Amino acid sequence: MSKQFDVIVIGGGPGGYIAAIRAAQLGFNTACIDEWKNEKGGPAPGGTCTNVGCIPSKALLQSSEHFEHANKHFAEHGITATGVKMDVAKMIARKDAVVKQNNDGILFLFKKNKVSFFHGRGSFVKAVDGGYEIAVKGAADETLVAKQVIVATGSNARALPGAPFDEENILSNDGALRIGGVPKKLAVIGSGVIGLEMGSVWRRLGADVTVLEGLPTFLGAVDEQIAKEAKKAFDKQGLKIELGVKIGEVKSSKKGVSIAYTNAKGEAQTLEADKLIISIGRTANTIGLGAEAVGLKLDERGAIVVDELCKTNLPGVWAVGDVVRGPMLAHKAEEEGVAVAERIAGQHGHVNFNTIPWVIYTSPEIAWVGKTEQQLKAEGVAYKAGTFPFLANGRARALGDTTGMVKFLADAKTDEILGVHMVGPMVSELISEAVVAMEFKASSEDIARICHAHPSLSEATKEAALAVDKRTLNF
Ligand code: FAD
Ligand code: NAI
Repeated sequence: MSKQFDVIVIGGGPGGYIAAIRAAQLGFNTACIDEWKNEKGGPAPGGTCTNVGCIPSKALLQSSEHFEHANKHFAEHGITATGVKMDVAKMIARKDAVVKQNNDGILFLFKKNKVSFFHGRGSFVKAVDGGYEIAVKGAADETLVAKQVIVATGSNARALPGAPFDEENILSNDGALRIGGVPKKLAVIGSGVIGLEMGSVWRRLGADVTVLEGLPTFLGAVDEQIAKEAKKAFDKQGLKIELGVKIGEVKSSKKGVSIAYTNAKGEAQTLEADKLIISIGRTANTIGLGAEAVGLKLDERGAIVVDELCKTNLPGVWAVGDVVRGPMLAHKAEEEGVAVAERIAGQHGHVNFNTIPWVIYTSPEIAWVGKTEQQLKAEGVAYKAGTFPFLANGRARALGDTTGMVKFLADAKTDEILGVHMVGPMVSELISEAVVAMEFKASSEDIARICHAHPSLSEATKEAALAVDKRTLNF
C-alpha cells in the first residue's frame, strides 16, 4: 500500500529540510526522505551542510583559531600560555558532537512541524494519477505518492581525473574534515572556498600547506581589491598559494601523495605531501533518483534543469539547492526551498539572487554581496567607491585584528548601493547589514546617516559608506 502525501521532499539538506518544514507550516501533509547515515547507520539529516560541509568546517575553523590565538596572540595580551597542545582526536570528536546536535535538531524540527521523515533513498518510479510514485529503499522501505515533489538531492565533490578520492591520502571535503593527526605536509588542489578554509585549519595546527590553483588570478569571483588584501594576509600567515599551475600525474602510495605539475612559468615541478585535499568544485547529485523513469530533464553537467521559479520540465516537480543552477550555498538552497513551498501554496515566494551573501570563513574573513568593481566596469555602470580600513577602527584595534577593509560601491547618479565587499575580522556577521540595505534599495548615504554603536566593527561599514561621498570622519 502506498502512502499518500501532498508534498514529498527528496533530500534532507538545507534545501530539502527547510522546504519540508515550510510546506508543513503551510498546512500540507509533507514527507521528507533522506538517506544520509551516521556512523551507527542511523539517520543524519542536514545533508552536506550539516554532515561534511558548513557546520563541521566551521567547528574545525573555530578550534584551530583558538589554538593559533593561544600560541601566537595571547602573549600580546600579557597571557602566558606554555605547552599549548592540540589533541586532534578531541577536536574531531567535538566537531562530530556539533554535527550530531544539528542532526538531532532537524529530527526534532520534523516532529514539531509534523513532517513524516523516511530514512532511505528516494527514487521516482512512475507518474500516477495522483502525481508521482516514489520508492523509499533503506531503513524505511515504502512507496509514497504525492502530487507535488521537491527534489533537493544536493551535490558531490568533483574528483580530479586520474586521482580518485580514497579518503586516506586523496581527500574530498569528507576526508579533509576527519584527518586523524596534523599532516607534516598538506597539498590542496583548488584555491576556492574549501581549499582556503580547510587549508587554513590545518596550517593553523602546524601543517606546511601548499595550495595549487589552476587559474592565474586569486579568488576571481571576489572584488579584486578585497582578494588582493586577503592574499597578502594569507601570504603573511605562510599559507603557500601557487597560481596558474597545470596539474599532471597524481601518485598515491603508502608514504603519501606526489603531485606533478607545471608552474605559471611553465616549469615542471613535483610536490610531495602526506595528504592531498582536492577542492575543485562540486557536481550536482542525481545518483539513484530515477530521473529517467519519469523523464526529468538534466543538463549536460547532470544538474536538474529548472526555470527561475525552480520548476522542472515535469508538472508538480520542483528542484532546489545544489542540484540546480546558481551558487552552491546553504542559504541559497534554503531560500529556494521556502520559495517553492510558498509557490505550491499559491503564494509568491521570491529569491533575489543579487542579494545572496557570500562568506569565506578564513582569517581574515571575506564577505560580499552584490556586484564587484570589475563586474560594474564590464557592465559599463557608472559607480562611486568608498573604502575604510579596519586599521582606523577602534574596536578592531582593541580586538588586536586590524587586517582588511570595508568597501562600498554605489551608483554614481542615484547613490543606490550596488555591492559591498569586506575582508577582515567578523565580516561574516557585518555583511548582513549590507544585505538588508540592498534588499531595501538603500543608498550609501542612508547607511552613512544611521547611528552605529561605538566601539564596534560595524562603524567601519558606516565609514565606508561615508567614504563614497569622500567624508570619512575617522580616516
Ligand atoms: P545537500 O546539503 O547536499 O543535501 C542533499 C541531501 O539529499 C543529502 O543528505 C543526501 O544524502 C540526500 N540525498 C541525495 N539523493 C537522495 C535520494 N535519492 N534519496 C534520499 N536522499 C537523498 N555553504 C554555505 O552557505 N556556507 C558554508 O559555510 C558552507 N561551507 C561548506 C563547506 C564544505 C566543506 C562544503 C563541501 C560545502 C559547504 N557549503 C557551505 C555548501 C553547502 O553545504 C551546500 O550548498 C548545501 O549543503 C546545499 O544544500 P542542498 O540541500 O541543496 O544539498
Ligand atoms: P570553488 O568553486 O570554490 O573553487 C574551486 C577552485 O578550484 C577554483 O579556484 C578553480 O579555479 C580551481 N580548479 C578547478 N579545477 C582545477 C584544476 N584541475 N587544477 C587546479 N585548480 C582547479 O569550489 P570548492 O572550493 O570545491 O567548493 C565547492 C563549493 O562549496 C563552493 O563553490 C561553495 O559554493 C561551497 N562552499 C561554500 C563555503 C562557504 O560558503 N563558506 C565553504 C566551502 C564550500
